[in-house]
Order: sequence, then C-alpha cells, then structure tokens
Amino acid sequence: MKILIAASEAVPFVKTGGLADVAGVLPRYLEQLGFDSCLVLPRYALIDPDAFSLERLPGVLTVPMGVLGQQFAAVYRGAIPGCSAPVYFIEHEGYFGRAGLYEENGEGYPDNGERFVFFSKACLELGKLTGFRPDVIHLHDWHTAAIAPLLNTAYRFDPIVGEAASVLTLHNLQHQGWAPKDLMEVLGIGWAHFNYLELEMHDKVNLLKGGIYHATQLCTVSEGYAREIQTPAYGEGLDGVLRDCNWKLHGILNGVDYDEWNPETDPMLAARYSVDDLSGKAVCKKDLQQLFGLPRREDVPVFGLVSRLVKQKGIDILAAAIDRILALDLQMVLVGNGEPWTHFFFGDVAAAHPDKFACFIGYDNVRAHKVEAGADFFLMPSRFEPCGLNQMYSLRYGTPPIVRATGGLDDSVENYDAKARTGTGFKFLDPTPEALYDTVGWAVHTWYNDQEGLDCLIRNGMTRRFSWQAAARKYGRLYRRAAEWER
Ligand code: ADP
Ligand code: GLC
Repeated sequence: MKILIAASEAVPFVKTGGLADVAGVLPRYLEQLGFDSCLVLPRYALIDPDAFSLERLPGVLTVPMGVLGQQFAAVYRGAIPGCSAPVYFIEHEGYFGRAGLYEENGEGYPDNGERFVFFSKACLELGKLTGFRPDVIHLHDWHTAAIAPLLNTAYRFDPIVGEAASVLTLHNLQHQGWAPKDLMEVLGIGWAHFNYLELEMHDKVNLLKGGIYHATQLCTVSEGYAREIQTPAYGEGLDGVLRDCNWKLHGILNGVDYDEWNPETDPMLAARYSVDDLSGKAVCKKDLQQLFGLPRREDVPVFGLVSRLVKQKGIDILAAAIDRILALDLQMVLVGNGEPWTHFFFGDVAAAHPDKFACFIGYDNVRAHKVEAGADFFLMPSRFEPCGLNQMYSLRYGTPPIVRATGGLDDSVENYDAKARTGTGFKFLDPTPEALYDTVGWAVHTWYNDQEGLDCLIRNGMTRRFSWQAAARKYGRLYRRAAEWER
C-alpha cells in the first residue's frame, strides 16, 4: 500500500513542534510494516539543499491556483536517515523563500492560507513528476487539510490521486488555517463548498474545518484528546463538527524515538545510566546544576521544564504559582521560548532567586536532553495537550513528570499511589496555580520522605514504553480502513 505523507515540517529537516517528530519518524516505522511511503515538505529557505544532499528532479510542477492562474514549483528529493522512503521538497521562492515557516517576529504571514493551499495542491500534482500513486494521503493539521476537500472535488477523477483516500491527523486544534473568503477562488472548487458544514466559518475560510468534514478518516494524537475536542471546552469552536464526525475519529498516541531518547546511550549526557544502575543520573544532576549556575546540591530536588512558553503549556499557571513554589526547598530549571512576556518574566524570577531558579530562553536540544536526565521531576502543567512528548521522554529518563490530567498527558502518565506503590508521575486536574502548587508540594514531600515510593515511581516510568511500532501499526489499520471506504 502506498502512502503519501504531506506535512509542513519534519525532523531532521525542519521543526517547530512535535508534529515534526511524528512526520519525520513515521515513514521509518511504516517501512518496517511493509508500507511504501513518501514524505512531502515545503522547501523553506532555511532548509539548505547541500546540508541534506537534496537533488533537484528534472522538470517543473504545474500547480493550478484558481484565479491566480498556474504557478510553478521545483521539486527536490532527499532521504530520511535509516529509511528508504523518499522525501520530496516543494520549492517556490515567493511562498517559501522567506525567513520563517509560518511567521516572522511573532506575526503570522497574511497569505498563509494561499501558501498552504499551494503546497496542498503541489502534493496532489507531485505524482505527475515522480510517478508515485498513493492509495492514502496522510494529512497533518490545517496546513495540508485542504487536500481532503480537493480530493473529493477537483481531484475526484484525477488519473494519479483520484482513487486516493485521506487520513487527517489533528495535532493541535488551536491552529485552523483561517483565511479571507476569497481563498475559495484560489482553492477553485466552487462557492458551493463555502457553507457552514464544510469550509465556511464566521464568513471566512477555515481550512481545518474543511479537512475534518472531507477526510476519509480522522485521528488525533491521543484517545483523551479525541474525546476532549468533542466538548466546547477543548473544541476551539469545532466541537460540533467533530461530534458530527466522531464515527470516523480515532486516537493514536504518538510513539517515542528511543534511538534519540535513551539514557543508556544518549551522547549528550555527562554520564549514562539505566534502570539497574542509576548512579549516572546523579552525575547528570550535578552537570545540570553547574550548567545553569545553581548550587551543586544533592540534597534538594530539581524540577525541570522544557517547552514552548505559551498559554497552551500552562506557562501562565506556573508564572502565577512560581513565588509559592520557590518558597519550597527545591531548585528549578526552565528551557524554552515563546510569548515575549515569558522571557522577561522568567528572566526576572532567575535574577530574584539565583540559588533556586535558572532559565535558558531559546531552543536548545542538548539542554533539553540534559534537563530530562539531570532533573528529579519534570513539569508539564498544560491547559491542553494533544499528546505531548516530553512527559514520555521524562519517564524514560527516570524523571517522574508532574502533569495536568488532560489529553495525552492523562493517557501516558499514571498517578502515583503511595499505598499500592503504583504509578509513574503526579497528576492534577484543575488548571489553577493552587492545584499546581499542591502537586509540586506532593512531589517534594515524596522526594524528602518516601524514598522507597520514589524508587518505584522511577522504575515504573523507566520501564514503560511508548513504541512507534505500536503507533505505526494503528496508523496502518487506519490507512486500510480509509482505503476500503467507498466514497
Ligand atoms: P508541542 O509540539 O506542542 O510543542 P510536544 O511535547 O509534542 O509539544 O513536542 C515538543 C518537542 O519540542 C519536544 O521534542 C521538546 O523536547 C521540544 N522542545 C520544545 N521546546 C524546546 C526548547 N526550547 N529547546 C529544545 N527542545 C524543545
Ligand atoms: C502538537 C501538540 C503536542 C503533540 C504534537 C505531536 O504540537 O501540541 O501535544 O505531541 O503536536 O503530535
């Protein structure tokens, strides 16, 4: 079975969030299951063709853009290390030859709708250059959601993709691809599809909504989030559409790339360790304290956080609780960037509590690994979390996570039960500073007073696995179900 994966980002080429991990890793595991896949990405200016040995394919791709007429794209071919699936890059100087992926200086590009409709159509045209005829096209988030309505309309009888079904994965419902309604003229499928069930929302185009309605099958990245998004509290205005579509909505928890996230082999750590010999973890803790300029104390728990610093991640909840948390006997390190206020805020906290709190504002994979290994606990107070990867990394690194019980966090972390000695982390439900403070207090109490319980927590977490093999098998079943669906 042939699968075309259409995504706006993928490791190792370009990444702003967890979607890139999923899109970049999936082809490798699909290959092990016998699927023949290819991945398609935009060739952003920051992807250097030489660095990834990209080869330009002969010919150009013609992309019909409705009232804008035909546009042309060059196509490059590359590869994911350790996988024979090709990766195709769509190059268009006007749309993708810019400094950012979706935005610059915090401002989204005003023509994002048009840019990604172009990319979506280029994915559908690509087979004319490569000969790849997909049975299923796997879409990710709003950027490629337009492929679903296009397949059901303008491309319904296309010689290459006319028979293809679509599977749309929802990684984050907060971003929906809103655009002025003239985008319908670029999409070129007729105004009849600009209605409240399909692409229209508040008199604008909503690409994700059109994708949800038209996709043959839908999934989100955890079962919990699949349930939550059908409620007004989490549906971001699309809960009604999602309830109508729940017959085709599934939850598939992401896997972890244990080749990269493994404390037994991780080359970025000061020392390696395993569930049978944790001595290296103490070395990592000292290394982390030194890197962040904190006192090198063994006798105090270190809390770590690595995240985009945005409201989704509950950063405002942490900010509201930080003074009380720092009154406890603990240290905290934070790595992240995001909303500008957070940079000032946490910079000030670090200046006021140099012995207890340190932060690195920016994106740094090495520091992310060092926090996972060197901290005693990992914080994820997310307001919503479709899946979340860091809590799964922290389990593997023997760093019990403290999470809000939502979406993938709730599905992947089991609450500590001190009597039964079961569980892998600490959970709280209310998205409030009080609940976060209480739960951090619970972890601190456990660290100081319940060593045996803590050992069980660490062991339980380190032996838990979230395998990509299992996730890929579920995707495989979903592809088959989509391909068999009579349209
Ligand atoms: P999201 O995609 O919503 O940001 P995920 O938990 O799925 O959340 O994935 C986030 C990924 O990005 C993880 O691999 C995490 O380690 C990484 N990450 C986030 N912020 C940073 C940062 N500042 N530095 C290094 N890695 C980061
Ligand atoms: C999104 C979500 C995150 C999820 C990731 C990969 O970025 O915010 O929870 O892990 O996608 O699916």
